Amino acid sequence: MKEKRNIFVAATGNRHKMAEMTAVMEPFGIDLISKAEAGAAGAEPEETGATFEENAYIKAKAVLERVGRPVIADDSGLAADALNGAPGVRSARFSETGSDADNNAKLLELMEAVPDGARTAKFVSVVTLLYPDGHALVARGECAGRLLRNGKGENGFGYDPLFVPAEYDAEERTFAQLSPGEKNAVSHRARALAALREQLAAEKDDGKE
Ligand code: IMP
Repeated sequence: MKEKRNIFVAATGNRHKMAEMTAVMEPFGIDLISKAEAGAAGAEPEETGATFEENAYIKAKAVLERVGRPVIADDSGLAADALNGAPGVRSARFSETGSDADNNAKLLELMEAVPDGARTAKFVSVVTLLYPDGHALVARGECAGRLLRNGKGENGFGYDPLFVPAEYDAEERTFAQLSPGEKNAVSHRARALAALREQLAAEKDDGKE
């Protein structure tokens, strides 16, 4: 018998996020197509929410309105303890230009006086799966770690070069020094997607699917 696969539209224009989400979901029978492939490239709503949850919903809704089929959206960011959780929901547009280089430079500058022992931070991802009938599943994943004083590594995106996840603390390897598989084994996004899969499985068991 042919395996039944689910197809969801991913509400992101970020190719790194798309690659991570695709790799994490594919083994579980869930295929993602990009919003561009679904004909909704222009769906880029302003992220006016005060929380990751609100922004994930805003993104999912904007794409759903154009494609009329189930949409999965991730809103994510970095929360530094010494900065009371900043950059948080403003992670993508923390600096004036919003480029990864400028965002990282601003973060390092603000953290300059923070001693090594207090440079703890976490990445947060909230994923929302929104269906055309308005039904939504929401899941959160976190990854704790610490921030270096200089970036290391070439992989990934965003703040990856500055962030050492707790799982790689002894080796002091940043997200940007991990292979895609290693990052997906511990990342906030992969954890949120795992929690979402559990909810999907529970719904199936309930016969709602
Ligand atoms: P969003 O696309 O509005 O959710 O913004 C997410 C922002 O948070 C990105 O632009 C990055 O700056 C940061 N971010 C989220 N996840 C990651 C990650 O896995 N690595 C590095 N930076 C991330």
